[in-house]
Amino acid sequence: MSQSDILCKTLGERVSVRVFPSQMVASIVVARRIAELIRAKQAAGMPAVLGLATGNTPIQVYAELVRMHREEGLSFANVVTFNLDEYYPMPASSALSYVSFMRKHLFDHVDIPQEQIHIPDGTLDEEAILGYCRDYDQKIEDFGGLDFQLLGIGLTGHIGFNEPGSTPDTVTRLVTLADLTRRDAIDTFGGLAHVPEKAITMGMRSILQAREIVLMAWSPKKAEIVKKALEGEISAEVPATFLQLCPQVEFILDRGAASLLSEYV
Ligand code: PGA
Repeated sequence: MSQSDILCKTLGERVSVRVFPSQMVASIVVARRIAELIRAKQAAGMPAVLGLATGNTPIQVYAELVRMHREEGLSFANVVTFNLDEYYPMPASSALSYVSFMRKHLFDHVDIPQEQIHIPDGTLDEEAILGYCRDYDQKIEDFGGLDFQLLGIGLTGHIGFNEPGSTPDTVTRLVTLADLTRRDAIDTFGGLAHVPEKAITMGMRSILQAREIVLMAWSPKKAEIVKKALEGEISAEVPATFLQLCPQVEFILDRGAASLLSEYV
């Protein structure tokens, strides 16, 4: 990959946006950035604290990280992870759980110690959720916050499952999924009736406080919400717009997802 493969643009003063010719090239760049962070922390004798995302968007990033582990000796021994979300209720053993997703795409293929993996628990009794969520945020704080947060973006503008109405101070909590989010998952679950109505999501607060944030989006399907996130009024109606306030954010897009941005038309 040469530099000329990459179209670089910076929109406005605050949010950096890079547009790549393909999802594959972009994913490799993101994976290398994560690997550099892991290695730098290793050299310093420190943990690398990563906020991780599920969904279609990050799959190729994980594939590249697994390749680097196998072929280049990238170790995950010092990596601590906090996943953004899990459906509720959701048994970890279900093929549709985000626990299964993470095992399939990353954790089963690298040397991360099991006790350094954190994914919201979809099996809790309702009464236990509040305390569990407080502990989840506390654990992130105990590690000094997230070094790096990987994000996709939902069609509602959600990050994690922080749906419209989510303000920047929200904490990890049980949420009701937006109708559009549930409809977007119909194929995965084999019908709307099978899509969970709720989820446990990391709050906006921990996400926005991460020291580096990368939001990735691929394909024209995401173009409209990406435009809103970057160019729209900052509002809880589109939670991703709060990223406009964070200088540590980078949007990594393919041409399709960038196609409606005013600097690209
Ligand atoms: P996707 O989901 O990666 O499957 O497009 C993104 C999201 O809903 O946050």
